[in-house]
Parts: sequence; C-alpha cells; structure tokens
Amino acid sequence: MNNIIPHTFHVTREDRNKLKGHASFVVWFTGLSGSGKSTLANMVEKRLFEKGVHTFSLDGDNVRGGLNKNLGFSREDREENLRRIAEVAKLIVDSGSLVIASFISPLASDRAFVKDIIGVQDFVEVFVNTPLEICEQRDVKGLYKKARAGEIKNFTGIDAPYEAPRFSDIEVKTDLEDLELSVERIVNYLNTKLEIN
Ligand code: PPS
Repeated sequence: MNNIIPHTFHVTREDRNKLKGHASFVVWFTGLSGSGKSTLANMVEKRLFEKGVHTFSLDGDNVRGGLNKNLGFSREDREENLRRIAEVAKLIVDSGSLVIASFISPLASDRAFVKDIIGVQDFVEVFVNTPLEICEQRDVKGLYKKARAGEIKNFTGIDAPYEAPRFSDIEVKTDLEDLELSVERIVNYLNTKLEIN
C-alpha cells in the first residue's frame, strides 16, 4: 500500500460493541444453490434482531446486483466476488454489527481466504449440507434444469465443483432436520459468542 497511511479513529470497534451491547462477527453460510442457505440465514437474522442484536445480511441479491454486478461465475470472478464480500463484511464487523453472509463459496480455498480476510476470531462457518439430488429436486429457481440442458455453464454441483467443508462450526442437514430446530441450534451457538449484555 504505497503512501497509504491508516488514520487512527477516536471511536473504536470496542466502543461500538459496548454501545450496541454485543460482540460483532461474521456468520458465513456455505452450501449448494438451493440448499437453503438464504432461508436459514433469514430466519436466524430475524431471531437475533428480535433479541436486539444489530444484524446485517449479505447475499447474492444485495451484492451481485450492485457492488459485484460486473462479475460472473468463472473461477476468477467467484474469487473476486468473495474477496469483495469478505472485505465488506469485515468493515461491517468493525461497525459493531453482526454479519450474516450466504454465498455458495464453493472451494475450501475460497473459504480459507475469506476467513483470512475477516480474521479467524470473527468467523463462524455454517455448512448447509443438503445433497445435490435434493437441491436439484427442489430447483426453486429452475437453474439446475437449465444447467443440465447446457444453458448455464459452470453451474456449481453440475459442471463446476463444490468442495464440502470438512470442519465447520455448525453443520445443518435441511433434508433430515426440522428447519426450526436447525435455526435453534445455530442461534444457541451464536449466543455463546455474542456476549449480549
Ligand atoms: S459464489 O460461487 O459464492 O461466487 O456464488 P454466489 O455469489 O453465492 O451466487 C450464487 C447464486 O447465483 C445464481 N447462479 C449460480 N450459482 C452457481 N453457479 C452458477 N453458474 C450460477 N449462475 C447463477 C444462483 O441462483 C445462486 O443462488 P443461491 O442462493 O445459491 O441459490
């Protein structure tokens, strides 16, 4: 960073956390398209918000339509997509809010560099482990059908890889566990880290 000298601010992240009454960090949902990431993330955010936690959601809708609208789904573009999101998430954490991020983030290396940018102490990974067959059966957006027909290239799980995380903080199986129960498990885990006062 040539000639960039960071400014020291009088108000720190700790001050903001104190004012808001809780810690701030990132909850990162990873999983295939249609796995249920956004549904779970939405429900978790609502539960925390109702408890007075300052939350902010990042997902495809508010990122790929704006900040990252120049990016597609090539390997390089996905990396840049996730790099920018991680940097934004880090800024929001600094603002004192809890970030709920839902992105496929398909490769172990993607998740590793995201964690590196955000900082390991501020990163909770939730693996939404829904088998490809189920996601494809659901096909909520009709994208799997298009990918199978060759109308979408590089579709995760079809002709682009998804590497399942081996060690996540929380793993959720949406095909086997009741959604409310999954949300409960996630919220309970986050509560131990939120230090709400
Ligand atoms: S990534 O891999 O983390 O950069 O992807 P992400 O930003 O989460 O975007 C995933 C959503 O984009 C839609 N979409 C695709 N997904 C995967 N592969 C390809 N080629 C693709 N093209 C469009 C898809 O609706 C994903 O939304 P979700 O919410 O995951 O279903």
